[in-house]
Parts: sequence; structure tokens; C-alpha cells
Amino acid sequence: MKGKVCIVTGANTGIGAETALGLAKLGGTVVMVCRDRDKGEEARANIVKRSGNAAVSLMIADLSSQNQIRRLAADFLGGRSGAPSLVDGRPRLDVLLHNAAAILPHRRVSVDGLEMQFAVNHLAPFLLTHLLLDVLKSSAPSRVVVVASQVESRGTLRWDDLQMEKGYTPLEAYFQSKLANVLFTYELARRLEGTGVTANCLHPGVISTNLLSDYMGRPRSMGFLNSLTNPGPEKGAKPSIRLASDPALATTTGKYFKEMVETKSSRASYDMEAARRLWDLSAQLTSSTSPG
Ligand SMILES: NC(=O)c1ccc[n+]([C@@H]2O[C@H](COP(=O)([O-])OP(=O)(O)OC[C@H]3O[C@@H](n4cnc5c(N)ncnc54)[C@H](OP(=O)(O)O)[C@@H]3O)[C@@H](O)[C@H]2O)c1
Repeated sequence: MKGKVCIVTGANTGIGAETALGLAKLGGTVVMVCRDRDKGEEARANIVKRSGNAAVSLMIADLSSQNQIRRLAADFLGGRSGAPSLVDGRPRLDVLLHNAAAILPHRRVSVDGLEMQFAVNHLAPFLLTHLLLDVLKSSAPSRVVVVASQVESRGTLRWDDLQMEKGYTPLEAYFQSKLANVLFTYELARRLEGTGVTANCLHPGVISTNLLSDYMGRPRSMGFLNSLTNPGPEKGAKPSIRLASDPALATTTGKYFKEMVETKSSRASYDMEAARRLWDLSAQLTSSTSPG
């Protein structure tokens, strides 16, 4: 991965931190996107120390805010605020890895007025991809990797209430956002055909992290209970690292991997009409012109 620039969102903890570490160990130039500067800086220092790779930088953005995503992309493209230096005055981006996600016990609304899980887990990857698509294309062959989840198979898109105003449950909102991850990946892959930019998604396994505590409704301080029965983030990062770096997957696109194995996702995730509808709605909700 030497000379390759990789953005990893939600890289201060859990699977994202281990993914950033793994890519740094492979020699990549890693850009960690985190919302909290102190937590991000601590994780960055740790990754630099453990990987022996100094080319790890930190960019700050709360991915629930579309303004912050736009500023993040503009700073990245301009080589500012923690972005790697431009090469001959031009940015490059080889891997865009959407890892950040949240499960919120009660319905919350983002600064843009959108249900928080839909905003962070689905719309943020949609918008950030859109804003960085030109640089992904000019850096091709390049890759978009989306960390989804096997619970996508339990998701349904509530077309009449995507923002879950009429009855919110944390897991239903999570399942919906993870199905949206898979539909988005497949639609992106279709739209990027022939560009040299691939798009794939994955289930990392059931991994002991803060998110798993949230999923199980346990206090995060009881994370040790999860760690008794589930592997840690080092294992959970392996599929992300592989999809980002394995030369054997250079042209693989529009696929879903359950851990290390390419497999079929849910039937609902192959509904092309739903994928197009979600794409158009997401473009409206992020005021984006449809890429691709
Ligand atoms: N753990 C599992 O068993 C499992 C299973 C299937 C899929 N996944 C997927 O794996 C990915 C990583 O999850 P994880 O288990 O490693 O969870 P985690 O330890 O809770 O990490 C989530 C990361 O996302 C960041 N994040 C959350 N909201 C954000 C926001 N508004 N802006 C910016 N960053 C934000 C968190 O930052 P803070 O630290 O600041 O909160 C953290 O860095 C997620 O996409 C998840 O859906 C996990």
C-alpha cells in the first residue's frame, strides 16, 4: 500500500482503529476521520507507534453534519487540516473506507433535521463518496469499501417514514441503515462501471466493540462481557483491510463479503428499483447531484 492514500472513517476506536493500523502497517498513507480531536490524536499516536509509519494523519468531522462532511472533503481536496500533501498540486485517493456508525437508544435528530442513524450510517457515506468521486476516478484503480453488517438482512426501508418519526426503535433504525449500506454499495458499483473505481461492502463478524455494547443495550463499561464471547477488533478489521488492499480483489466490484468470504447478501439488497429510489432520495436529502 506504499504511496496509496486511504481514508478510514471512525478510526479512533474499534474496528476502524484496527483497520487504520493494518493499512499503516502495510505502508499506506492513512487519513483517520474522527469527530473528537483528543480521542483521534491519542489513537493516531498509538497507530504511528505500533506501525512505525509516520504517514498517518487526523481529520476532524462529525459525520452527522453535512456541513462538516463538505468541509472535510474540501480540506482533503485542498491538502489542508491534516490531509496528506498534494502531489504536483493534486490530491489522490486510493481507498475510501466508510466504517463509522452509531446505534442510538433514543431517536435523535441531526443538525440537518435527519434521524441520526440514517444520517451517520448511510447519508454520510453517500455524501462523502459523492464529494470525493472525482478524485477517486482520477486516482483509479481505486476502491470504496463500506462496512455494512449481516443484520442488513433484518432491515426494511420504511419508505413512508425513513426518518422513523412514527415509532423509533434503535435496532430497526440500525437494520434499515445497514440495508441502505448494501443497496448503496451495489448501486454505486453499477454507476461506476468502467471507471476503475470499485465498490464493495462487508460484514466484519460479531466483534467486541462499543457498538456491540450499544447493540446489546449494555453499558459500554461492561464491554468485558462482550469480550468474553466475541473476538476483538483486530479480527473484525481483517475483512476491511483485505477489501482495501488485496491485489486479487483489484477488479472485484458490487460484492458483499461475510468476513473473508464473498457471499450473497439478503434478497432485499438486490432490489435495483429500491436501490435507485434510495439513491435519488439520498441525493435530495444531501442536496447532491447524482454522481455516476
Ligand atoms: N462490532 C460489531 O459486532 C459489528 C458487526 C457488524 C457491523 N459492524 C460495523 O462495523 C463498523 C465499526 O463499528 P465498531 O463495532 O468498530 O463500533 P465502535 O467501536 O462504536 O466505533 C464506531 C466509530 O464510529 C465513530 N462515529 C460514530 N458516530 C460518528 C459521527 N457522528 N461522526 C464521526 N464518527 C462517528 C465512533 O466515534 P466515537 O468514538 O467518537 O463515538 C467510532 O470511531 C460500523 O459500521 C458497524 O456498523 C460492527
